[in-house]
Amino acid sequence: MKSDKTILTAGPSITRREIAYVLDAVEHGWNDEWNLYMRRFEELFAETAGVAHALSTSSCTGALHLALKALEIGPGDEVLVPDCTWVATASAVTYVGATPVMVDVQPDTWCMDPEAAERAITPRTRAMIPVHLYGQPADMLRLVPLARSRGLAIIEDAAPALGATIRTADGWRPVGGFGDIACFSFQGAKIMTTGEGGMAVTASKALFERMRFYNEHGRAPGGKAFEIAEVGFKYKMSNIQAALGLAQLERIGELVGKKRTILGWYRERLGEIPGLAFNAANCWSRGIAWMSSVILDPDRHPAREEVCRRMKAAGVDSRPFFPPLSTFPMFSKGAGCGPVAARLGACGINLPSGHNLTEADIDRVAAAFRSALKPARAAA
Ligand SMILES: Cc1ncc(COP(=O)(O)O)c(C=O)c1O
Repeated sequence: MKSDKTILTAGPSITRREIAYVLDAVEHGWNDEWNLYMRRFEELFAETAGVAHALSTSSCTGALHLALKALEIGPGDEVLVPDCTWVATASAVTYVGATPVMVDVQPDTWCMDPEAAERAITPRTRAMIPVHLYGQPADMLRLVPLARSRGLAIIEDAAPALGATIRTADGWRPVGGFGDIACFSFQGAKIMTTGEGGMAVTASKALFERMRFYNEHGRAPGGKAFEIAEVGFKYKMSNIQAALGLAQLERIGELVGKKRTILGWYRERLGEIPGLAFNAANCWSRGIAWMSSVILDPDRHPAREEVCRRMKAAGVDSRPFFPPLSTFPMFSKGAGCGPVAARLGACGINLPSGHNLTEADIDRVAAAFRSALKPARAAA
């Protein structure tokens, strides 16, 4: 049946399981049982990410802030972040008084370029925050040795990438266990959702305890109930959100599988279009295609804004890639941005990728996209 409803870029998958857990948390998750779902969610999440400790938070942005605090990064320090990412990655660096230094990204993974990162290191650099952009793993096999050799801490911004893996000498390992701390997002459009929410994971008990300390308003460990040792924060997840998160996490294999299927459907329908690039496919990583994305070729295709406008007119929503952070007034140093981040920011499109999409929906998107690529007169 043909539908006239606009096809949106995102949308969650909510089943009876999510509804049952949330109802149970609302009904029983108080008093002695106030944190049962949080504990179950954190335990299963740590296991899924392949690390020892997980701390649930109200957002990935909050988790990044706690991570930077726990690593004692502060005023005078520089932190490398990719130029192509959501602003939260760099904003969190400013929350601790440090300076984000934008690094260009690789043309294929769209993630932090190890060579550009090396060039950006100064005596003030204390850490790097590689981002697994749109669910595509960053080149951790080169970034980790670089960071270690220069004494830098590593925070993985894995906001959209739960389930993505990287091949190591010990086999395939999930993203989230390659640095000192990794942060995930459960905002409504992510691979799994708690409405809003996040998680910080680490193999280090000491870092975990520091993050928990800062997330409890700096409450003195083992101290009296209201004894505070330092100014802290409160980025907490509720038990009700954790109930939703647990149900989603128990289905993560299915949720990731659907995203990969959607990317496969797009590749089948659009793969032969000359000059069009999709999410990277390489032998050392398996992305989750949180977003199915395409990069237009400015020499062959109409301008990205025009393509998105035509798709919208055909009832298909889309999202531009993130503009380079270094073009924003608060981050711009007047030096311009990396050429790859600039090209992706101008030519990248996230296609509809919601869990709820059917193959017939992808047919509609592909047809709208093909038609939007036609030269101006033909498309009119
Ligand atoms: C790469 C990246 N980092 C951080 C965040 C922030 O996540 P949250 O909205 O949970 O704070 C996002 C959210 O879209 C993101 O895409």
